[in-house]
Amino acid sequence: MSIKIAIVGAGNVASFFAKKFHAAGCTIVSITSKNLSHAQSLASEVQALASNNLYTIPSDIDYLFFAVSDDALKACVDQVPASNHFCWLHTSGSVSNAIFEEKTNRYGVFYPLQTFSKSVSLQQTKFPVLIEASSNDVQKSLENLATQIQLTTKYVNSENRKHIHLAAVFACNFSNHLFQIASEILKENQLPFDLLLPLIQETVAKLQVMDPAAAQTGPAIRNDQATLAAHVTLLKDHPQWEAIYSLLSAQIQATKA
Ligand SMILES: NC(=O)c1ccc[n+]([C@@H]2O[C@H](COP(=O)([O-])OP(=O)(O)OC[C@H]3O[C@@H](n4cnc5c(N)ncnc54)[C@H](OP(=O)(O)O)[C@@H]3O)[C@@H](O)[C@H]2O)c1
Repeated sequence: MSIKIAIVGAGNVASFFAKKFHAAGCTIVSITSKNLSHAQSLASEVQALASNNLYTIPSDIDYLFFAVSDDALKACVDQVPASNHFCWLHTSGSVSNAIFEEKTNRYGVFYPLQTFSKSVSLQQTKFPVLIEASSNDVQKSLENLATQIQLTTKYVNSENRKHIHLAAVFACNFSNHLFQIASEILKENQLPFDLLLPLIQETVAKLQVMDPAAAQTGPAIRNDQATLAAHVTLLKDHPQWEAIYSLLSAQIQATKA
């Protein structure tokens, strides 16, 4: 019998899981989100019902996913009637699984350690799902759930997951913000961002064989004072970028082996 899944949220992660599980032959029973048109748009792609009402989540399901912003998670969970008929899951890197304790004895975390944007397909399709479970039975069922969509799982407790999420913010979100600054510097000088793509790709590829500390290059690690000063001068119209530049350069120099 097909696995039945209801999803709360219609954003980046909800879209990934809804489409993946649907393509794997699971039944996506419903998509519920704050803005009904967002739920309808995703639901139409996976033949699900769309709703903006959490009180009416169907109970004849195997899994209920909450893929909503962290700040909305508790309020969303509170609105769904208590039930042990299905397994309650959230996809957050930083919220404890204890959030479900008052609603059910079958719950867990299904946190995909990847970055998702709903407008693009993933290039890197192999990544772990960090799981946590209220019992051994739930743990086994989550391992099985992940295999339905060709993903592996790794059991990580809430405390360790918070630190992994923090590290992921530095590695992914902050790197991407620096790419955005780089893009704006080039744009201001009528230069295309794709000039940098081979450099960015090699920076990441090197990490497969080298520790990040050993892989560092550039004026800060070489202590090229004239170049560092010239870059600060070039940033005189962007004091926030200059502050980031100076802080990161000082950090690179402070951590020099
Ligand atoms: N994006 C990633 O790369 C990534 C990776 C791993 C884990 N996560 C985690 O996955 C979760 C979702 O992230 P995301 O990037 O998918 O977020 P997102 O794209 O911003 O989507 C959040 C969704 O939450 C819905 N929502 C917010 N408040 C709601 C409420 N009160 N009732 C019902 N729905 C509500 C929104 O509904 P509307 O669309 O109707 O406004 C939206 O569809 C977060 O816990 C995040 O930490 C994200």
